[in-house]
Amino acid sequence: MRKIAIFADEAALANAAAEHFVLCSADAIAARGRFIVALSGGNTPRGMHAQLSAPSFSHRVDWPCVQVFWVDERCVPSDDPQSNYRMARETLLDRVPLPAANIHRVLAEKEPHQAAEEYERELRAFFSLAAAGHKFPHFDLILLGMGEDGHTASLFPDTPALRERTRWVVANYVEKLNAWRISLTLPVINAAKQVIFLVSGKEKARCLREVFFRRAALQPAQMVRPESGELLWLLDKAAARDIQPSSP
Ligand code: 6PG
Repeated sequence: MRKIAIFADEAALANAAAEHFVLCSADAIAARGRFIVALSGGNTPRGMHAQLSAPSFSHRVDWPCVQVFWVDERCVPSDDPQSNYRMARETLLDRVPLPAANIHRVLAEKEPHQAAEEYERELRAFFSLAAAGHKFPHFDLILLGMGEDGHTASLFPDTPALRERTRWVVANYVEKLNAWRISLTLPVINAAKQVIFLVSGKEKARCLREVFFRRAALQPAQMVRPESGELLWLLDKAAARDIQPSSP
């Protein structure tokens, strides 16, 4: 079931996302002693990260119990300005008491297929400790963004990664970017207990309308349909201007 909440602006959206992160972490840690989250890259998460690293939020998260993974990564070194890992470090991870051992970055400086294989191996090792025999890992929270073309994670329209139904992680060559990406696959995203999309800005409005109302030729973001988990869209007014606002 898809829930939607619309906020006045990007700052209010970021605040709401940080609150959801805190609440989701508290529930997971209370239930299972840890909170396993996958972060997305791009620009939208920056606001949430900034809020989360502020004392008003960061003191409400039991960081030693938090395990951080990435939804996707660009095939660049970890100190590259394009790196999702670098963005998360600068805006969040270096500002909270998260043990280094709890940070599971993609070794995206390696050859793409090797990086994908190693990241999948790390995921399988990590999750098999707790959930042997599950076909796909159950993240407590997966945070996603959406591009103007409807992509999410590094699952771009008309790319092979969209068809992957067995592997947990793939290397995906994105023609339009002339670049390799590493991405969690749809089965992994859809196995999560909670998936939250953060979408902000008027440039996303047209695509959001298609994602919410178009039935044919699904956009990648439309293919995110958690098997049993919750799906929540956190939008700002600018992004939501072409869809019927439901009460937040
Ligand atoms: C990435 C992201 C990607 C992102 C969208 C939206 O590596 O870029 O994971 O899927 O979420 O491109 O990006 P913005 O938040 O910058 O609009």
